Amino acid sequence: MRSMEELFYALLQDVYFAEKQLVKTLPKLAKNSANEKLQEAFINHYDETEEQVARLEKVFEAIGKRARGKTSDAILGIVAEGQKVIDEVDDEVLRDAGIIAAAQAAEHYEIALRAAQREGRRGLMASTYILPSRARIKTTTRTVPSTPPGAYPQLALVGPGRQRANE
Ligand SMILES: [Fe+2]
Repeated sequence: MRSMEELFYALLQDVYFAEKQLVKTLPKLAKNSANEKLQEAFINHYDETEEQVARLEKVFEAIGKRARGKTSDAILGIVAEGQKVIDEVDDEVLRDAGIIAAAQAAEHYEIALRAAQREGRRGLMASTYILPSRARIKTTTRTVPSTPPGAYPQLALVGPGRQRANE
């Protein structure tokens, strides 16, 4: 990696890979959650994540690169942890709590990448490696929203011991 431009592109590929993984994973989390509110939260977030993927594809387009993810062991590890909970935890309240923990880890990872990407973009503006269509990138990337902390507002309602599913 030799320039801010390359760093920005690498971060974009990381975020893209993570979001695509989550598009695959969120329906599984919904299906394996016992609590209906939790299922609903995952289904809603699936729709949002698909929109994020589409927005990222526009950013790739704006910088004239093919939309391509870069395999990230970090997000694969988080997804694997979630799968382990699904496979190994029998008690459904406990399983839901484990699924929430994995989903929140994924969300925080996403937030961290987006923050890094923002920094990279700022550096891009300030560096001598400014992309030719600087203005265009600035407006396009602004349309990629950060996932707000507490992206699963409903999850607070389903902490272990507070509510058994379908009760
Ligand atoms: Fe997300």
